[in-house]
Amino acid sequence: MRKRSIFLMLVLILEGMMCQADEGMWIPMLLKKYNIEDMQKQGFKLTAEDIYNINQASLKDAVIGLGREGSPFFHFCTGELISNEGLIVTNHHCAFDMIQSHSSLEHNYLRDGFWAKTKKDELANPGITASILVRMEDVTSRINAVLKPEMSIEERTQKIKEVSSELEKEAVKGTNLMANIKPYFNGNQYFMSVFKIYKDVRLVGAPPSAIGKFGGDTDNWMWPRHTGDFSVLRIYAGPDNEPAAYSPDNKPYQPASFFKISVKGVQEGDFTMVFGYPGTTNEYLTSFAIEQIQNIENPHKIAIRTAKLNIINAAMESDELLRIKYASKAAGIANAWKKWQGEIKGLKRFNTVAKKQREEATFQKWASNRQVYNNLLDNYQKLYEKRKDLVLAAAYLNEAGKRGAEIVGWSASVRNRMKNKNFAENPALYKQKLKKEAEEYYKDYDLNTDKKILVEMLKLYHRNLPEKWIPKEVLKSAGNKGPEAYVENLFEKSLLVDTAALFDFIDKSNAESYKKLEKDPFWKLYTSMDELYVRKIKPELDKIQSEIVRLNQVWLAGLMEMDSDKVFYADANSTLRVAYGKVQGYSPYDGAYYKHYTTLKGIMEKDNPEIYDYNVPQRLREIYQKRDFGTYAQDGEVPVCFIATNHTTGGNSGSPVLNSEGHLIGLNFDRAWDGVMSDMQYDSEICRNISVDIRYVLFIIDKLAGAGHLIDEMIIVE
Ligand code: ARG
Ligand code: ASP
Repeated sequence: MRKRSIFLMLVLILEGMMCQADEGMWIPMLLKKYNIEDMQKQGFKLTAEDIYNINQASLKDAVIGLGREGSPFFHFCTGELISNEGLIVTNHHCAFDMIQSHSSLEHNYLRDGFWAKTKKDELANPGITASILVRMEDVTSRINAVLKPEMSIEERTQKIKEVSSELEKEAVKGTNLMANIKPYFNGNQYFMSVFKIYKDVRLVGAPPSAIGKFGGDTDNWMWPRHTGDFSVLRIYAGPDNEPAAYSPDNKPYQPASFFKISVKGVQEGDFTMVFGYPGTTNEYLTSFAIEQIQNIENPHKIAIRTAKLNIINAAMESDELLRIKYASKAAGIANAWKKWQGEIKGLKRFNTVAKKQREEATFQKWASNRQVYNNLLDNYQKLYEKRKDLVLAAAYLNEAGKRGAEIVGWSASVRNRMKNKNFAENPALYKQKLKKEAEEYYKDYDLNTDKKILVEMLKLYHRNLPEKWIPKEVLKSAGNKGPEAYVENLFEKSLLVDTAALFDFIDKSNAESYKKLEKDPFWKLYTSMDELYVRKIKPELDKIQSEIVRLNQVWLAGLMEMDSDKVFYADANSTLRVAYGKVQGYSPYDGAYYKHYTTLKGIMEKDNPEIYDYNVPQRLREIYQKRDFGTYAQDGEVPVCFIATNHTTGGNSGSPVLNSEGHLIGLNFDRAWDGVMSDMQYDSEICRNISVDIRYVLFIIDKLAGAGHLIDEMIIVE
């Protein structure tokens, strides 16, 4: 008996230690305190100051958070500087919208790729921002100073917002910098990030989609992988090298530091680190939350997206123009759709719910004589019980309702623009703006496809939701003629399906014209969805959610107190982080082992002109046949992708993957399907990030694009 329990304890301790290795997304300013020793033990040759230093140039100055003008602190991807003329590399899928927006049937950059011959040919991308972290600061004590235990949740939230905004203003007063405070460790700590944000980011080059998106959605989230997922951008600055709005006179930005590129290649076991902007993870969720994600939220969202994708994919297969129109939308829908499926698989395989329940039982024992924590799990349970129903209804409204068929949401955009007081005050300008927006909308819109989507969405509503969660207008569609006839009728009556008529309407409109739009059948459908949401779902759900957020804070504080020797990492929150681990293959199932890298040979093996996702560009076939690999081959083949144990998530796409010397060896772009549950539970046995090998990037730029002038800008080391 005794022996057995000692053995069990040992297993538990070992299990605990194994989870630690490779897991975590660490805060750059705290590396020195918590990680650098371990990193060096794993093979890293630089110091914490080489990574993050606010007094002189360090690697952090070469990492770019890509954002959008309205929300520059939300980094949809990461990029990195690789020349002293502001040259950046990121993923093809990160620049996909930019490439798509410059594409047409005549200039099909999506299909054929794009390479600017000179700097003059680089293409502007209005609205895209590039943030560089200047410094970070722990502001926890300043926030906590204004909080009192007796405050309600609303008061707390309000107070935090107020102080944050004061502190942010104070931090950047008199400068052109921007500051942003975010909660870490579920709101138990707060850090401020101060950025310099550049606003003129241009497209320099992108390979054809048959390289940049090779394998498409078939291979997405999969290993072995052969995607050349990269594109090249450049930051431009004003004459003083400072951020400036787009101007043809802007100059290439001269960075404080940029990455040297290593062509030495990777071996299994090599140290590797990813430096970028992971978006969101939820590593400290309770079993109650995981249970709902696994059994309610993900399955329903998957079903809704499956229905949409069936329609969109058929349209894209049928017509080249439809492929361009829907390429970006389809990729977006398919991406999360596939990830959710992998997530369910992983959570089940690792029995995450049961594992969390065991942790919760341990916690409860510890908490039984601690008043703050004693009722915590009971409270969680009650809240999640109430949440169950609401979260399903909300998923439907988001996925199948307001963002189901595009025309539904579009009707609201048009009506809201016209009702806005700007429209009445400055009609000429705002009419023109609205028309521009409409042009963009219809450029990528196909009425027949959208019609089919709407019919399917309505059917799903009827099939899967109880009547009380079905919006009134949607209920009508179940009438004796069925959703098809109902939808046909909406499209016949709407002003929004005939672009000429709509433009004419906008031209002749006045301050009252929005009222006419309020009679449009799509607006009616939209408002009926919105009403149900605003009246019945949102208030309840928001309340529950804010109570859960509060519990989450107490929960994590409790875990940290219980396990006070362990170094915890904060969930991803779209701020700059370091993940480190090693290059390593894995075993997806018994009897099989995946190698840590793939090569061009594998692309040729997948080559199939009949299958869109595997149709290799003729030029690449020729280069392969001639074996014109330049200096980019290893053991006779050009390496394409590799995997490692770095803990990454969405937003980390495009992140620099560095070797032990801090040199760039690849660009992170994905994770392997078997381990995508790493957003909720990381496991070093199976969680792998996927990177494109920098040698493949150079090979394509040099041999396929013939853009050697870009390579001349870089510093390449062994
Ligand atoms: N799965 C990757 C990430 O989450 C890449 C997505 C883009 N590629 C695609 N085939 N849709 O963003
Ligand atoms: N592909 C993701 C991204 O775009 C990365 C990931 O989720 O692993 O950020």
